[in-house]
Amino acid sequence: MEQFVIKGGRPLVGTVEIGGAKNAALAILAASLMTSETISIDNLPNVTDINALLEAIERIGGHVEHTGPHSVKLNCAHIDSFNIDCDCIRKIRASYYLLGALLGRYKRATVPLPGGCNIGNRPIDLHLKGFRSLGAKIDISHGMIVADSEELTGAHIYLDSVSVGATINIMMAASMAKGNTVIENAAKEPHVVDTANFLNSMGASIKGAGTDVIRIKGVEKLHGTEYTIIPDQIEAGTFMLAAAATKGDITVKNVIPKHLESISAKLIEMGCQVHESDDAVRVVATRRLQNTHVKTLPYPGYPTDMQPQITVALGLASGISIVTESIFESRFKYVDELTRMGASIKVEGSTAIIEGVERYTGATVSAPDLRAGAALVIAALTAEGYSTVEDIKYIERGYEDVEVKLRELGAVIEKVEEEKDIQKFKLKHA
Ligand code: UD1
Repeated sequence: MEQFVIKGGRPLVGTVEIGGAKNAALAILAASLMTSETISIDNLPNVTDINALLEAIERIGGHVEHTGPHSVKLNCAHIDSFNIDCDCIRKIRASYYLLGALLGRYKRATVPLPGGCNIGNRPIDLHLKGFRSLGAKIDISHGMIVADSEELTGAHIYLDSVSVGATINIMMAASMAKGNTVIENAAKEPHVVDTANFLNSMGASIKGAGTDVIRIKGVEKLHGTEYTIIPDQIEAGTFMLAAAATKGDITVKNVIPKHLESISAKLIEMGCQVHESDDAVRVVATRRLQNTHVKTLPYPGYPTDMQPQITVALGLASGISIVTESIFESRFKYVDELTRMGASIKVEGSTAIIEGVERYTGATVSAPDLRAGAALVIAALTAEGYSTVEDIKYIERGYEDVEVKLRELGAVIEKVEEEKDIQKFKLKHA
């Protein structure tokens, strides 16, 4: 089993190029199914969740051509099945986007109930409520969601809570429904806006993405397009927190600084310097971090996908910090692992009370999910001595070449498979 072995204690210094947004790419690839014409996509991250979705698209008859390390051409003129049931798709949460895309174009789809990271109860009732409002009949049987309709008709849909997935899914299906749809209490995340921009470039008529009311005028047909995916807000944020935690100096390049404002604001409260330019943000941490309080919220609030990373950094800050998770209830599972590295954190329900320690010490820990896995890597990079992070398959779902990028910033990290490789690493870096 692959794992990261890390010798901690070095500040990370340098520049890192951020890739395309995984969560935007998942929605955009699914939406590419909605036309028979060719779609070219650029700035696609090469991570396992994306590759799983591409495999699922190929299995139902889509043609995928990799035109570069981060670009694909997709042609979905010959979709021959509306029933997607393969291991590749069961693993990823975003499989639900195939439902909205196929329902929009073909008015029917059968997709497994979604998998994904184990970070709490993750219902999809709001997605289904939206599809039903558009006139689809939805059945759940044998672990599959079966959606079917004669015709989709625009509707006024109020989302009871802010959901990124439901907003995007309803937006996709409604783009090819008859008449107008209004989504109220819509999510405003950058990837909602990016997916709307992509659909509009295919000929859809979506207005208001990025606000809490989205208006969609259904069109009969969507066409081919060329599109570049936005930079990944969470990958960028993860490196920003790595700079803070290791007392380093990292410039994250190829980013949209506006998307990082909630993270920058917290880093400034923690005593870091944050310098923004057009497409880059530099984070400099010269002394011990200060405590602060954080509550995760829908965009433009502080992202839940950045909660474990800031908790790890606050675990090293002076004073008591409080982190409140308001999106996913089981998102503190990694705290037990962090405790093994010397953190002093008490979790009570959706709140973590953090008493900052001077330093972490190296240990063997296991990544419980994608973002917590990245946070444990940050902890290991700060820790005294050697650490091993196991179950890195979770991390590789959403971070491309993370160990390569970290090495370029001066980290001592290697991906290894066997115990003997860990021993070799320790000898080499004694
Ligand atoms: C997406 C992201 C994930 C991120 C999350 C919140 C993708 C593939 N994943 O997940 O990385 O952590 O947004 O920013 O883009 N909810 C319901 N019913 C529903 C749907 C959601 O009650 O039908 C609740 C969820 O339990 C959660 C909240 O709404 O408490 C937000 O979830 P949502 O925004 O839908 O997250 P995802 O789209 O699954």
